[in-house]
Amino acid sequence: MNKDLLTLAIETSCDETSAAVLLNGRTVLSNIVYSQIDIHKKFGGVVPEIASRNHVEKISQVIDEALEGADKTLEEMDMIAVTYGPGLVGALLVGVSTAKALAFALDKPLVPVNHIEGHICANFIQFPDLEPPFVCLIVSGGHSHLVHVKSYGTYEILGRTRDDAAGEAFDKVARTLGLGYPGGPKIDALAKVGNPEAINFPRVYLEKDSLDFSFSGLKSAVLNYINQCKMKDVEVIPKDVAASFQASVVEVMTSKAILAAKKCGVDKIVLAGGVAANNGLRESLTEAVGKHGLELYYPSLALCTDNAAMIGCAGYYDYLGGVRGGAALNAVPNLKLGVKP
Ligand code: KG4
Ligand code: ZN
Repeated sequence: MNKDLLTLAIETSCDETSAAVLLNGRTVLSNIVYSQIDIHKKFGGVVPEIASRNHVEKISQVIDEALEGADKTLEEMDMIAVTYGPGLVGALLVGVSTAKALAFALDKPLVPVNHIEGHICANFIQFPDLEPPFVCLIVSGGHSHLVHVKSYGTYEILGRTRDDAAGEAFDKVARTLGLGYPGGPKIDALAKVGNPEAINFPRVYLEKDSLDFSFSGLKSAVLNYINQCKMKDVEVIPKDVAASFQASVVEVMTSKAILAAKKCGVDKIVLAGGVAANNGLRESLTEAVGKHGLELYYPSLALCTDNAAMIGCAGYYDYLGGVRGGAALNAVPNLKLGVKP
């Protein structure tokens, strides 16, 4: 039996300052998330410069709280895992420089982690027995990917968005409806009480059997619908717009996720990223996997949105795979999935 390994993980890629301590990659001893949502709300979205400044202010405190919560010291850590991309460059740099300083000062291994891989790994924390291979639908504010997770750390991208990310579409439609930021949870809540068949928004499947997504046409269709209603003096019913928009997104995602599982010959579909919190998506996929004899996995709400625990889990498997960062490690804002430093 190998020695127990403790990981200190740091995540600052967007608007959450987070630190976590994990035992052997899958047991979370602490996971502190300081969300800046209230600060960015008034601007209708994340303001990069403000995000960086807030990360600088909070990072030390968040790390201290994570260590305290785990009842561990910095010296006890076996590795420092940190998100180095993708994300906002200034925000990422706060985490990366903090992690580099700690790793250097403590003489501990530094493990650079891909944020998207972190989202996938949130499921390993939630489901201790989950093992690859599986198909993962990663849908967040910045990314929409269908990925074949072949083994720990080995990913094949099956499809991706050609324009907006899924969460971006949720946020933009919510903004148009005057629902505020972040829009996903607001659309989700409204959709529950709205009629998904009220408006027939397009279902964008692209070419036959394509596993890519496109959300910008749908987003424009929603904006056009609202503008036309205004021009014709017809009342816009936000709950019906939300439900009909969500139905379009969810229908396409569900059928592409099932197609991906069939193409790869796997029996598990795994959800990840902020949009994986969407109730409509969870319900639709639950029904679909039942019909197709597949299994569905998705993390708890807290593990769906950005947090350092998921980065610690991905970092642990990267560490076992020999991934290391050095003093030259830099933030990579457009880091691709599966690329190792
Ligand atoms: O993964 P995440 O926390 O950050 C990124 O890495 O992007 O995802 C944030 C995105 C936002 O666009 C937010 O509106 C969306 O996830 N989101 C949701 C829900 N909760 C969060 N979208 C749809 N339904 C939800 N319940
Ligand atoms: Zn994320």
